[in-house]
Amino acid sequence: MSTAPDTVTVTDNRTGQSVELPIVHGSEGWPAFDISKMPNQLGLYTFDPGFLATASTPSEITYIDGDAGILRYRGYPIEQLAQHSHFLEVAYLLYYGELPNQAQLTKFEAIITRHTMMHEQLKTFMQGFHYDTHPMSILCGVVGSLSGFYHDSLNISDPHHREISAHRLIAKIPTIAAAAFKHSKGEPIMYPDNTLSYAANFMHMMFSVPSETYRCSPVVERAIDLLFILHADHEQNASTSTVRLAGSSGANPFACIAAGIASLWGPAHGGANEAVIDMLEEMAHIGNIDKFVARAKDKEDDFRLMGFGHRVYKNHDPRSRILREACHDLLDELGIDDPALELASRLEDIATQDAYFVERKLYPNVDFYSGIIYRALGIPKSMFTVMFALARSVGWISHWNEMISDPNQRIGRPRQVYTGAQARDYAPLAQRD
Ligand code: SDX
Repeated sequence: MSTAPDTVTVTDNRTGQSVELPIVHGSEGWPAFDISKMPNQLGLYTFDPGFLATASTPSEITYIDGDAGILRYRGYPIEQLAQHSHFLEVAYLLYYGELPNQAQLTKFEAIITRHTMMHEQLKTFMQGFHYDTHPMSILCGVVGSLSGFYHDSLNISDPHHREISAHRLIAKIPTIAAAAFKHSKGEPIMYPDNTLSYAANFMHMMFSVPSETYRCSPVVERAIDLLFILHADHEQNASTSTVRLAGSSGANPFACIAAGIASLWGPAHGGANEAVIDMLEEMAHIGNIDKFVARAKDKEDDFRLMGFGHRVYKNHDPRSRILREACHDLLDELGIDDPALELASRLEDIATQDAYFVERKLYPNVDFYSGIIYRALGIPKSMFTVMFALARSVGWISHWNEMISDPNQRIGRPRQVYTGAQARDYAPLAQRD
């Protein structure tokens, strides 16, 4: 057993001054050293644009080992949850921290089921969006407005209020998401059908019309549920960190989740699934793969292979492997021959053997195959990131609750290295060049 102090020493070589910083250990993964006292002792901040090397918080929710390609929700491997669980059980696990027993699961599913309707006035609110508004814009706006409808659960220091808000978000986001799609199609918004499962209810609200009821097959229901499980959480990614930073000021949960939706929308993050399909459609044929791979490697070209690479995974994204198999199985079961799947498979083969991608440890991520599955399920491209946000809202609200529950929680406030103009006096207009 080492007798060395469990600290890191940082020395400013300009002054010879040193400071000992305590090492913070978790239950898995790399420890971190706590720099909170360093600025006052050394007069130095750390510099880490994009927080690549910074642990922003302790968390018990999700563990990722990017080098080993490991993803676990509350300690359970994503492969096991994908195979044996279903989305509402995973939602319970992420929020409460343990798998539910039968009584807990039955109660949770009943509560979620009875919160699926949205306030009728939200339909009026949605009419204000232009008919061809992107569904993510509607989702972001409508979720942010929910605080205007639920004044009875905004005391975030009350765990019961936090729980009610979580239930409402988990239950209503599919309804709002489907309503956003209906708005863009000029079709009537469908009420939820509480006799259906969470996944089947979403597909009902997406594709039923008053004159004709849609009921998805068990194969489609399982595929949707699997996609929701795989997208439910992913540690401190950009959108989750956005939710945490917004929540650290005490903002209401609906506003925080709306901030997460906004962050997820970017093509470098949750918008990549839509961008992957755009890329495959532009690529069109296997013969064009080499041209696109060359572009992705060309530093003069800002094109990147969408659905490839990851800030944390420097091995295969375990979700991508599960989705690749699910994609092949689903298209076989549905008898769909989507050339995009063959194109994606060939692109993965070529890129993962190319030195550029191998050296940089760039592999397909969760977004590489998900769009092909969504398309096979009849989900339009404009809804791909909405699907991601729907599932990730469970992770977001779980992280928000974990943060607000932390007695040591304080408002987040990163510092900067100022590189702008130094002090100067105001020049009257007449004296300016
Ligand atoms: C998600 O954080 C999360 O957990 C996110 C997520 C979640 O579940 O929340 O997993 C979901 O957002 C997945 C990522 C979806 N985005 C994309 O598929 C867009 C395409 N990928 C990239 O833009 C990129 O890979 C990122 C944004 C995902 C990661 O960007 P980084 O961290 O800047 O990439 P990097 O530092 O690892 O890059 C190392 C090198 C660089 O080249 P060099 O400067 O070393 O020469 O690899 C290059 C990059 O230019 N590179 C790529 C590339 N991704 C990185 N080159 C070509 N194509 C790519 N896709």
